[in-house]
Order: sequence, then structure tokens, then C-alpha cells
Amino acid sequence: MYLLSFFSLGKKMQDKEIRNRLQESERKLGSSMPFDEAKERVTQLEKEVTSLDSVMDLQDILRRFSFDNICKFSFGVDPGCLQPSLPVSPFAAAFDTASKLSAERAMTSSPITWKIKRLLNIGSEKKLKQAIKIINNLAEELINKRRKIGFSTRKDLLSRFMSSVENDNKYLRDIIVSFLLAGRDTVAAALTGFFFLLSKNPSVEVLIREELDRILDNPVQECASFEQLQRMHYLTAAIYESMRLFPPVQFDSKFAQEDDVLPDGTFVPMGTRVTYHPYAMGRMERVWGSDCLKFKPERWLHDGVFVPEDPFKYPVFQAGVRICLGKELAVVEMKSLVATLIRQFDIRVVGSDTEPRFAPGLTATMRGGLSVRVYERSGRWNDP
Ligand code: HEM
Repeated sequence: MYLLSFFSLGKKMQDKEIRNRLQESERKLGSSMPFDEAKERVTQLEKEVTSLDSVMDLQDILRRFSFDNICKFSFGVDPGCLQPSLPVSPFAAAFDTASKLSAERAMTSSPITWKIKRLLNIGSEKKLKQAIKIINNLAEELINKRRKIGFSTRKDLLSRFMSSVENDNKYLRDIIVSFLLAGRDTVAAALTGFFFLLSKNPSVEVLIREELDRILDNPVQECASFEQLQRMHYLTAAIYESMRLFPPVQFDSKFAQEDDVLPDGTFVPMGTRVTYHPYAMGRMERVWGSDCLKFKPERWLHDGVFVPEDPFKYPVFQAGVRICLGKELAVVEMKSLVATLIRQFDIRVVGSDTEPRFAPGLTATMRGGLSVRVYERSGRWNDP
């Protein structure tokens, strides 16, 4: 419910069709288009980072990176947000507004206020409606353009869906918008938390670099292949560990459609809002032990091999039948970016002794961004 509800996708997401399509795209990651494109974007990001020599907001850059990435993956269109010199696209801006206003809605103690505003079409509800309209219109425009130029030979998600659901524009629009919502800020938030923790834990960075040097070719292999990424167990562990401490979706609510009983016997009357809280759960001693606040990728490794936790213990991607459909894709995207960047650069957070504070939103957003300095690593290939 955290972000999909405004685009009425809910039930449709259970469709086998959608799961199949996404799995198909994930499989292709291994060999063809989307992975190559992600690699291309990482190289582009690398160029942006090199060209900025003063303090920069890494959170902003990562949000631009993941928006371009998910648009290319979903629509086959590159909005070009990654060049910080360009203004934020109307699409991205409308997404930000809709996301912020939806989160504010969820935080109100009673829904009566926003419902009245919605009825009268005033204030924040008017703005939310306008933002959703912009998003829907732009998505429809893209679908119509694609229909004109043809989609049968293209491999992006929209084209794959269009070949089976040709004329239902609303269905296509809802699927695509949901993927953009689900895949954009989550990945950026996860990467922002990761770089924050890495800057505070240089010993983890050393171990990631050792693994990269073992797996990647020397001298400079710019981007890892899919097979190489699969062999990076320590990096996978570090990414999962960072999302334990800084989950992109910090909490998420459901409403009971009928009377229910939780596994511990708690009775839940129909209509009750039930919230699970990955941020709190990730920091509970009872769940993760006395070192629960420590950033320790080793807790995910058994004899050097990454072993995932039970999703009900680690609900960062939710758990059960409605578990995140893009989780493998997200982790591959993150590993690819991290592997490229930290091999080339030292990314140091400015003022990393303070704990980050978060702004209200559907996904974790650090208040004021994440200020970093980026240093190019020279002579690394000669290191002993
Ligand atoms: C680190 C990145 C990500 C995190 C932490 C994450 C987390 C989540 C969570 C918590 C949910 C459950 C939402 C709910 O039902 O209330 C979810 C659902 C979903 N996610 Fe992700 N997600 C990530 C990346 C992605 C990406 C990259 C995509 C798409 C390419 C994606 C696609 C989806 C979809 C389609 C659903 C709906 C599944 C359903 O309702 O059956 N996610 N995700």
C-alpha cells in the first residue's frame, strides 16, 4: 500500500502475467539489453561524479540515476535526469510531489481532513490530483507514441506488455507507473544509506575492494559482468546489511479486509490499520542480537557464501505472496553501481559523525541530502 495505491494497481499486481514478464526481464539481465544499459548508465554516472570536484549531494545524483534507469527499463526512454545541469523532468517532479503529498496523507491522525479537501478539491489534495494527472498524461503519451512507432522488436517492459495487452491503455499505464514508483526512490534510498554507512566503516570498504580485485580483471575493467556480480558475496552481504539499518521503505501499512488473528493470537478487527516497521525491526536486539546497531556484513555470510534471511525477519522487500517483484533487479543494479564507483573513487560523507535525519515521504529520504566529497583513487593498480 505504501506507494501503489494511488494508481489502483493493487489486485492486478497479483496477475501471473506481470510476475512472468518481470521474471523474463530479470533473466535477460544476465545477457542482454537491460544489463548493458544499466552498465552504460553507471559509466555515465561515473563521468558526472568525476566532473564535480567540490561537495556534492550524492542523494540527488542517485535519485537522478535511478529515475533514468527505471524509465529506460520500463519505457525504453531516457529522460536524461542524470546530468545535474539539466532541470528535473516534469515527470520526476510530479512523482516527487505525489510521493510527498501521499506520505503526508498517511501521516494524518484522521483521514477526515484530507477527504474533505479531496471532495472540495482544495489545498494539498488539489496539488496531488494535478501531480497524478501529469504523471498519467505523460505515461499515456509514451504508450501512444510507442504504439505508433511499433513495439514488437523492443525489449523494455512496456513493449513486452504491449505485445500481450495491446489496447488497454489504463492497464498499461498503471503497470508502468507502478514500476516507476516502486523502482525509483527505493533504489536511490538504498544506495544513499549504503554510501553513508560505507563512509563510516572504512574496513568494510577495504574488504569490498579486495573482493572486487579478486573477481574483476586488471587493469581497469569498468563494469562487472552479470556473472561476476553473482560471485560477489561480500558486496551482496554489505548491501543487504545496509538495508537492514537503512531500509528504503521504513514502514508500511495494510488494512484488514476482514476480522483476522495474527500468528501470536492478536485479534485484528476488520478495517484496522496494521503497520510493519522494517526500520525498527532491523535495529531490534531481540531479532538481530546485541550487535544489532553494528554495520556487519559478515552476519550474512556462511563460509564466505551469502545466505539470505527469512523475509519475515528481514521485511525490507516485504514478505509473503506480495513480496517485491523487483528485488533481484534492484540488488543487481546496486551491486553494479557500487562495484564501479568504489573501485574508482573514495566517496566520503561530509560530517558523517551525525546520524541522518529523514524527511517525511513514502521512501527514506535524508533531510538536506547526503553531502559527499569524491576523490579519484590514483595508482590503485600498483597497490600491493
Ligand atoms: C532496494 C530497492 C527496493 C525495495 C527496498 C523495495 C521494497 C518493496 C516493498 C516493501 C514492497 C511492498 C509494498 C507493499 O505492498 O506495500 C514492494 C513491492 C513492489 N516492488 Fe519493490 N522494492 C525495491 C525495488 C524495486 C524495483 C527496482 C522494482 C521494479 C523494477 C520493484 C517493483 C515492485 C513491485 C512491482 C511491487 C508490487 C508487488 C505486488 O504488489 O505484488 N521494486 N517493493
